[in-house]
Amino acid sequence: MMKVCISGLGRAGGQIARYLLHCSRVQLVSAICSPGSIKAERDLGEIIGASSTGIRIYPADQIEACVFNTRPDLVLDFSSPSGALKNAEAFFALNVRVVMGTTGFSHKEEAELYALADRYGGGLIYAPNITRGVSTLMFLSELASRILAGYDMEIIEMHHSRKVDIPSGTAAKLANRLQQMIPDGTDHPIPVASVRAGGIVGCHKVMLVGENDMIEISHQSFSRDAFAEGALYAADFIYNKTGIYEMKDAMNLEGVLMEYLDRNFKDEPCHVALM
Ligand SMILES: NC(=O)c1ccc[n+]([C@@H]2O[C@H](COP(=O)([O-])OP(=O)(O)OC[C@H]3O[C@@H](n4cnc5c(N)ncnc54)[C@H](OP(=O)(O)O)[C@@H]3O)[C@@H](O)[C@H]2O)c1
Repeated sequence: MMKVCISGLGRAGGQIARYLLHCSRVQLVSAICSPGSIKAERDLGEIIGASSTGIRIYPADQIEACVFNTRPDLVLDFSSPSGALKNAEAFFALNVRVVMGTTGFSHKEEAELYALADRYGGGLIYAPNITRGVSTLMFLSELASRILAGYDMEIIEMHHSRKVDIPSGTAAKLANRLQQMIPDGTDHPIPVASVRAGGIVGCHKVMLVGENDMIEISHQSFSRDAFAEGALYAADFIYNKTGIYEMKDAMNLEGVLMEYLDRNFKDEPCHVALM
């Protein structure tokens, strides 16, 4: 059975831990908090409002002891950008795969994360968008932007009032990817509007607006269990792999598209001229 460590026991990590405790396919073996956190050395159940679990919370400066004592195959990280990078290095060095759900990395930090995975020959899924729904939103939005070339594109993202990074990692990535779909896109940054209010778990909306019509593609998470489901999906994928991946790899989106094209356009002459 896959052995999992969870790093970061805040809103997302706490809910993922609760979800994993009831999941028979995986064994949650340990948890990581920040160095000096009051959560250190306590039983996970105490922190996430469950009964006693026998699962110890290690501070991030004791990752070596955590891995030595609990032997996780992989870690799900939902902590903070600065902590997550340090943690990732420690886990890669100990041959533990990393599902990186933490967002808010600068370009430099992102490059550093990839370099670390590379240097240690580690297995990494970098997933600022951990739900399969958001990956599908990205995929469909990119396709729509090519089909409706010339339409204006705007992104709206909505999250709870405590979310720190603005725009969300997912919205930033969406904007970047959609910009790359436009010829000479460097001159056309895609506007992102952010809403921080109440308890919204997560909502991303891509609008493609023409002179006479518009379409919207949107995704909404109903609860943080959506993150847990996505994290588990990513974990299943990276469990016995090395290399650097994204959720679109785990979901085999390219394969799905190829199969669709093969089934629907195999014998048709190609009339499509890509710009
Ligand atoms: N990929 C996705 O789809 C997705 C979905 C949801 C959230 N996220 C991201 O996940 C991260 C956490 O989100 P959240 O809403 O749960 O935030 P949060 O409630 O602020 O939780 C973050 C937790 O990380 C802990 N932490 C800080 N430094 C740490 C370290 N070095 N090692 C281990 N734990 C550390 C903090 O607690 P202690 O200091 O007490 O340990 C805190 O409880 C954010 O970057 C968020 O954007 C991503």
